[in-house]
Amino acid sequence: MLTQEQNDELTRVGPGTPMGAVLRHYWYPVAFVRELEEFPVKKVRLLAENWALFKTADGYGIVHERCPHRGASMVYGIVEPDGLRCGYHGWKFDTGGNCVDILAEPDSSPKFRESCAIRSGQAQALGGMVWVYIGVDPAPQLPRYEAYVMDGVRDIGHSMLPCNWLQIMENSVDPYHVEALHGNYFEFVADQQGTPMPGSFGGNKHEKVAFDAFEHGIIKRRLLVGQSEEDDDWKIGHPLVFPYKMWVGGNGVYQMQIRVPIDDTNTWALFYTVHAPEGADIPDDSPCIDYEYQWIDENGEFIVDYIEGQDIMAWVTQGEIADRTSEKLTKSDVGVVACRRMFRDSIDAVKDGRDPVAVVREPHDVIKLPLERSKFGRGSEFAIDWIDNGSMRFSPQAEYMKKIHRDAGAARQAMAGT
Ligand code: FES
Ligand SMILES: [Fe+2]
Repeated sequence: MLTQEQNDELTRVGPGTPMGAVLRHYWYPVAFVRELEEFPVKKVRLLAENWALFKTADGYGIVHERCPHRGASMVYGIVEPDGLRCGYHGWKFDTGGNCVDILAEPDSSPKFRESCAIRSGQAQALGGMVWVYIGVDPAPQLPRYEAYVMDGVRDIGHSMLPCNWLQIMENSVDPYHVEALHGNYFEFVADQQGTPMPGSFGGNKHEKVAFDAFEHGIIKRRLLVGQSEEDDDWKIGHPLVFPYKMWVGGNGVYQMQIRVPIDDTNTWALFYTVHAPEGADIPDDSPCIDYEYQWIDENGEFIVDYIEGQDIMAWVTQGEIADRTSEKLTKSDVGVVACRRMFRDSIDAVKDGRDPVAVVREPHDVIKLPLERSKFGRGSEFAIDWIDNGSMRFSPQAEYMKKIHRDAGAARQAMAGT
């Protein structure tokens, strides 16, 4: 249980807040590369501030939405090869935020223009998405986690959810919910609907769980009844990637669950999935598909007959900002406690002028994170179950993804038989 002040400190993301200061140490995906190819400016809200993201011939830029002249929106600006020009009176800003031209005053003094800079960040593309950094200089490296650079079929489901990002992160270190929400509750829903319960998600009884802090967050381990400590779920586990992601997968599916804090009460929740089963024949030019998954039906009720829909029900029904002043934490919430501790330690680190956890300063080609190869001890039917019973069921390429896994499974069997 937290006091109201502690809960505010952990959850508020705006400028000037302690957690806002922590979160301004990281890069965030804010758009798909294809969107800026279709139209070169996009309005972006991130950490309770509004921005204009744009694409020039040379790369990407991001500036504060409000024009320093008289406050019109830079989202309605003109993209030029070296910057963005406000649509209202034509003041132009480069990607570093410098005011480089005032249309009506070609001979404006450099000194005056210097005082007219607009706040800016940095932006770059990786893995089919445009990422931005809006914190203080020097910017850290954009971490090249394996998901964003590996070969495979890319599939990104996304939706805006009306809740604070932290309650979603707490769910990442809450293994028992898999047994209850995706097991018993799923079975109840399937039974009511008269539909079959997916085999991969029933009967996952936890014997014990463990959480280990590491340089990118917290590794979560589970031992299910019938497993040994040599099984991947315990021996390898998978991580909460600090401060706004979870890396999960197995059986040829690799998924980064990304929760971008838009503001205190809205989170852009993405399931960034790469399908790369062993033995698959995947074309090099596989497109990166993005789509909105559905989580609420025409009556305004949660859609709870798929895995992530069940999670979203739990995240959103906890309230816009979960009220942690009236909760009852217990022993089995040990992961949630570890998660809050890491966030609080990061607040302290930033107050001391140090980097919080998982800020990457070293240039690198790829960062590989631990991940079970075999999930819940299941085979390739796990991947099919996940596509059929997860947010990927809304993907326009769902059938293609299932075929990739089936064909790869057949190819592996054929190899084993020869
Ligand atoms: S308000 Fe942007 S140039 Fe005037
Ligand atoms: Fe879940």
